[in-house]
Amino acid sequence: MPKSPPIYLDNAATSFPKPPEVVEAICRLVKEISLSPGRSAHRFSLAASRVIFAARELTADFFGCPDSSRVVFTSNVTEALNVGLFGLLAPGDQVLTTGMEHNSVMRPLRYLEKTRGISLAILPTSATGAIDPDDIPKRLNSKTRLIIINHLSNVTGSLADLAAIGKRKGGALLMVDAAQSAGVFPLEMEAAEIDFLAFTGHKGLFGPTGTGGFLLRPGLKLPPLKMGGTGSNSEQEEQPQLMPDCYESGTPNTLGIGGLAAGLEFIRRTGRETIRLKEEHLTRLLLEGASQIPGLTVHGPPAGAERGAVVSLTMAGRSTADLAFLLDRQYGVMARAGLHCAPAAHRSVGTFPQGALRLSPGFFNTEAEIQFVLAALEQIGIGK
Ligand SMILES: Cc1ncc(COP(=O)(O)O)c(C=O)c1O
Repeated sequence: MPKSPPIYLDNAATSFPKPPEVVEAICRLVKEISLSPGRSAHRFSLAASRVIFAARELTADFFGCPDSSRVVFTSNVTEALNVGLFGLLAPGDQVLTTGMEHNSVMRPLRYLEKTRGISLAILPTSATGAIDPDDIPKRLNSKTRLIIINHLSNVTGSLADLAAIGKRKGGALLMVDAAQSAGVFPLEMEAAEIDFLAFTGHKGLFGPTGTGGFLLRPGLKLPPLKMGGTGSNSEQEEQPQLMPDCYESGTPNTLGIGGLAAGLEFIRRTGRETIRLKEEHLTRLLLEGASQIPGLTVHGPPAGAERGAVVSLTMAGRSTADLAFLLDRQYGVMARAGLHCAPAAHRSVGTFPQGALRLSPGFFNTEAEIQFVLAALEQIGIGK
């Protein structure tokens, strides 16, 4: 089987390629304006402010938030989650979370457990990585300050039912890590009773790396993680309380945020549901094909279940690192092996410590590419 032109199946890490309009927007911005918004009153600075404002409005609209000042841009979802976890949790608080969380959640939580005296309760997961929302009320108590949920697992593709979780949150706050789902699955902040929604810009939203953010439910206040120049209230030596300036100290990533806005426009024009259906189709092909290959095991929900475009596999007698290496070097297929920064999730589905080979199709992949990777996996299996 000849090596193919590069096939990118690592969209769960970051989406590639980016839509042409995202590339064009970034090039135009870097060529045409200076990128420091809100600092000066000259036309370039005002143009940069308008770029950020337009992106904020688009983001608010995209996530069903009526007030764009409640959208805060950060450098990725990890930073957004850190703002939420460090800002909301106090000694004695209990956090209810799942065994499917990314280290962007687990590492700050484990740190706060050690240094701030919070406690963790972990919801049980099924063998495919799903949680049962009915388990939530049984675990809530008067100390439960926060429920934090990974909407779409970056290991198994399993999807959490946010509406059902929101209805069962009792007096706790609901924080959602939407790193993998934003741009593909519906995410209406108010409808799902989400208090803190964290997203990253460079995956399903088609923006560049270095972008992300969070949306805060009205009335929810928490201290910022960093303080400094905001371009507003410069007479004060204290951090302004103004939203969103309070959380956006330092010159922002105008270039990236402009690119993210172009990604959101691309989704709007293409249709989020069109994107979801294409990814669902490619994922189904992948899952059905993989189930025919002797020795391959899929770790996650089956084809036909409501799930995301993340397929984790192991092959009997082959390490996952070997599989990824062979796919890349011999066949030109880029995928990711290992623990995917989510050891807890691999423990939950029984693939720790060896991990899995993760294939994550995106909107720009084709059926032919999926057929090619299946043929490559079959050949690797035969050649063992
Ligand atoms: C579920 C989940 N949470 C958090 C992250 C971290 O994303 P970022 O590196 O953009 O902060 C990822 C990405 O790998 C993820 O899949």
